[in-house]
Amino acid sequence: MLRRYLLSIAAGVIICSLPAKLPAQDKPRVVAATPEAAGEYLLIVGSCHDCHTPKWTESQGKVPADDYMTGNPVGYKGPWGTVYGKNLRTIAARQSEDHWVNVLKTADDGDGHLPMPWHNTAKMNDADLRAIYKYVKSLGSKVGERIPRSLEPGIEPTSAYVDLSTRPATLPDTVKKPR
Ligand code: HEC
Repeated sequence: MLRRYLLSIAAGVIICSLPAKLPAQDKPRVVAATPEAAGEYLLIVGSCHDCHTPKWTESQGKVPADDYMTGNPVGYKGPWGTVYGKNLRTIAARQSEDHWVNVLKTADDGDGHLPMPWHNTAKMNDADLRAIYKYVKSLGSKVGERIPRSLEPGIEPTSAYVDLSTRPATLPDTVKKPR
């Protein structure tokens, strides 16, 4: 009896002295009072507003919160055609959180185009991607300015656009699924 007791204490000591197993997502993440507060911060330091909030860059971030994430009607033209920083409020309103994380980790299953920085969002902590979703969703669905649909290569956009096609040899026309 005593022997068994001593053995179990010894086992306990061994188990306690093993290093704690690291959780899969033990990489840096933003810590804040709420996930929404982390998301609000991440959208700014992650440069997400620059392409998904109208006039964010031109006004150096002085945009009413009501317009946050309602999309940017200025296109990005390149070998992939022309794409637009979409309205993420309407998207978060109709997408599940898990789907949101999957899109940002897999470059929309390899269908995503530049200049959306898929290669960066793929490396973000899931907790951060979820925090961004929660914050965007908390803003509520809002349709602001109409965001044009993306265009195939060779079609001239009627909207204003940024021309990224001057170095076609160095830019791919699609994005490989990041790993
Ligand atoms: C340089 C501009 C740019 C930046 C910076 C940017 N995006 Fe995007 N984003 C885009 C464009 C353009 C698309 C559309 C890409 C396409 O059509 O393949 C897009 C697409 C998306 C989508 C996919 C929406 C859907 O389901 O169709 C999500 C989600 C998204 N961005 C989130 C983010 C987040 C979060 C950040 C910040 C970490 C960010 N974006 C930063 C330009 C940008």
